[in-house]
Amino acid sequence: MTNIINGKEISASVKERIRLETEKLFNETGVKPGLAVIIVGDDPASRIYVNNKKKACSDIGFNSWEYALPAETTEAELLELINKLNNDNSVHGILCQLPLPKHLDEKTVIDAIDPKKDVDAFHPVNVGKIMIGDYDFLPCTPAGVMELIHSTGVSVSGKKCVVVGRSNIVGKPMAMLLLHESGTVTICHSRTKDLAAECREADILVVATGVAKMVNGDMVKEGAVVIDVGMDRDENGKLCGDVDFDSVAPKASFITPVPGGVGPMTIAMLMSNTLTACKIAICK
Ligand code: GUN
Repeated sequence: MTNIINGKEISASVKERIRLETEKLFNETGVKPGLAVIIVGDDPASRIYVNNKKKACSDIGFNSWEYALPAETTEAELLELINKLNNDNSVHGILCQLPLPKHLDEKTVIDAIDPKKDVDAFHPVNVGKIMIGDYDFLPCTPAGVMELIHSTGVSVSGKKCVVVGRSNIVGKPMAMLLLHESGTVTICHSRTKDLAAECREADILVVATGVAKMVNGDMVKEGAVVIDVGMDRDENGKLCGDVDFDSVAPKASFITPVPGGVGPMTIAMLMSNTLTACKIAICK
């Protein structure tokens, strides 16, 4: 039988736990976690993501500040803002929404964020800490995927895990988190010789390619746990994932829908990282 993993419900319960912890923290210390969100330019998708992040902050009881900068902002101006936020004790997390306009170098911008406030876990210091399994923050999407896998009750240990996609934000850290839980991990990408054969080996299959419905039922083993990180549009402009849900669901033991699977988890994990950053700052 196929079980559909309800990311909306799981994310709501993670956010409720964070809300209660935040209330307790405030009662004990008088400190509220604070997240600064920077958006440069007017990318419509980024605008929706930023609005959702601000709403989650307000629902949970965090302070949040939005810095909406014009598309022609210079790198020096953006770095100056980040420097100011790095030195502001009421700001515990800094998130600069990607992608940035072409003239701004994402690597330089990420490097400028204080690693202790890097709630995306994109800074090289945090990426390195993840590699050695000694981290304060996990990148939000892979961390959310792990929560969804845990919700199935399926243990990763000893399982054949296949990650399709090798981005710095999802594929690579995803593979590392599965490895930390003793999965046997294969990373597939656009040059993989026989993608279907690799995917068919997977007990746990995580797909993050950005290609609509790329993985179909013929590519999935009976009983696999299938996690779809995609957020694409099909030929009719309808929202869909990287997995062809209709052909894969009958074979999977557990599968995430799009929307309502991984997407809501990403914001819940961002809130979790911001609370962690705040607690670390308090303990300093
Ligand atoms: N753009 C798309 N996803 C993300 C994310 O998780 N963090 C940031 N900063 N930008 C994004």
